[in-house]
Amino acid sequence: MGQKIQAVKGMNDLLPVVQKDFKLTASFWQAFEDIVVRWTRRFGYQQIRTPIVEQTGLFVRSIGEETDVVGKEMYTFSDSNDSLSLTLRPEGTASCLRAVVEHNLLYNGPQKLWYMGPMFRRERPQKGRYRQFHQVGIEALGFEGPDVDAEIVAMSAELWNELGIRDYLTLEINSLGSREERAAHRAALVEYLSCHEEKLDEDSKRRLHTNPLRVLDSKNPDLQEICNAAPRLIDYLGETSLAHYAQFKTMLDGLGIAYIENPRLVRGLDYYNQTVFEWTTDKLGAQATVCGGGRYDGLIEELGGKPAPSIGFAMGVERLLLLVSEYGALEVNSAPDIYAMHQGEGAALQVLKYTQMLRRIGFNILQHSGYQSLKAQMKKADASGARFALIVAQDELLNGAVTLKDMQGQLGQVTVTAADLVNTLQQWKNT
Ligand code: HAM
Repeated sequence: MGQKIQAVKGMNDLLPVVQKDFKLTASFWQAFEDIVVRWTRRFGYQQIRTPIVEQTGLFVRSIGEETDVVGKEMYTFSDSNDSLSLTLRPEGTASCLRAVVEHNLLYNGPQKLWYMGPMFRRERPQKGRYRQFHQVGIEALGFEGPDVDAEIVAMSAELWNELGIRDYLTLEINSLGSREERAAHRAALVEYLSCHEEKLDEDSKRRLHTNPLRVLDSKNPDLQEICNAAPRLIDYLGETSLAHYAQFKTMLDGLGIAYIENPRLVRGLDYYNQTVFEWTTDKLGAQATVCGGGRYDGLIEELGGKPAPSIGFAMGVERLLLLVSEYGALEVNSAPDIYAMHQGEGAALQVLKYTQMLRRIGFNILQHSGYQSLKAQMKKADASGARFALIVAQDELLNGAVTLKDMQGQLGQVTVTAADLVNTLQQWKNT
């Protein structure tokens, strides 16, 4: 026997439903994806699908060279044919904007787009943090806000409602202001942190000159005092930024969406400005952020398009579904309507004909494959979770009949002629 090969660390299989346990199976994900498709449609968003691999430069330029994602976590390789550097996408925004600029999608006016799929970051795997993970993201391109800022937050809240997890999520918001305002704050912050450099940990010392805002994000309890007294970005915001932020908050208030203002919320990617937000939970341990996003008004221009103020967010599907599986509600039904059984010569072909006809009118049918006793087949029917069993054995075959059994017992078992098969099943289905 050959040696078994295992999945790559931090990359998970999604298995089918086993023993009627739906949680975190492929069926569970599919039920979620169905909800996402309907939810995006209700808000007028259109799907975009981009390749999983992009030129490395796209992510370096958009996410930022000094971020953890670009600096440490990307899966980058050179394409053997032309030594082009390629990267497995670590997030969806950059790819989405690359496609929008490449195909000049904003020529016809602003766009509301959504995507879902796998993303790759070489992080240390733990519960809720993986190397291949999945995001559902939305991007509203060409809108100045703040109305659209409030709309997309309300849109996310709607999804949490539908999944039954709204009570377990907290909305944190902040404003990062404009590029110039951030630069002025950054200068003041570097000066302040430099005065306390000897008290900083190694990570923070490194970040002091590369990404000082992230020092404020530090989880190190020894640094909290220094961080608390640091210059606050909000004090560097000008009139326009403050008005944008104030209107955003007024709209959230008007929509009855509660939030916490977190002046330390800076996000891990460099492209943000003005409104940023995260939905966090205290139910998943360290990996608390289920969804994050914000404005990135300069990014489209940076990627070669005409300036177009924009905003978006992405949720981590694994984290979200961990939460839903424990605290929320997601209806999953992967069981067939009918398990079709056959015994004796000629019966398999007859059942194939019946099931083909029944599938065409909308029944989901799992047909028994192979030749086993009816008793063994009935066990399989039971395990499949099917509501009805359809049986053709020698008697049925001789008489042009079919036996139907209600696996839940209420309707018993009847033998009907082939002509009555559809009627009986439809009546049964509706009772
Ligand atoms: P992000 O905060 O880097 O933002 O990722 C969004 C979400 O993806 C996180 O809140 C988290 O739930 C999930 N996530 C990130 N890394 C992992 C991981 N290693 N394992 C499991 N889940 C993870 C972005 O990616 C932006 N593109 C969001 C955005 C869209 N901003 C504007 N538009």
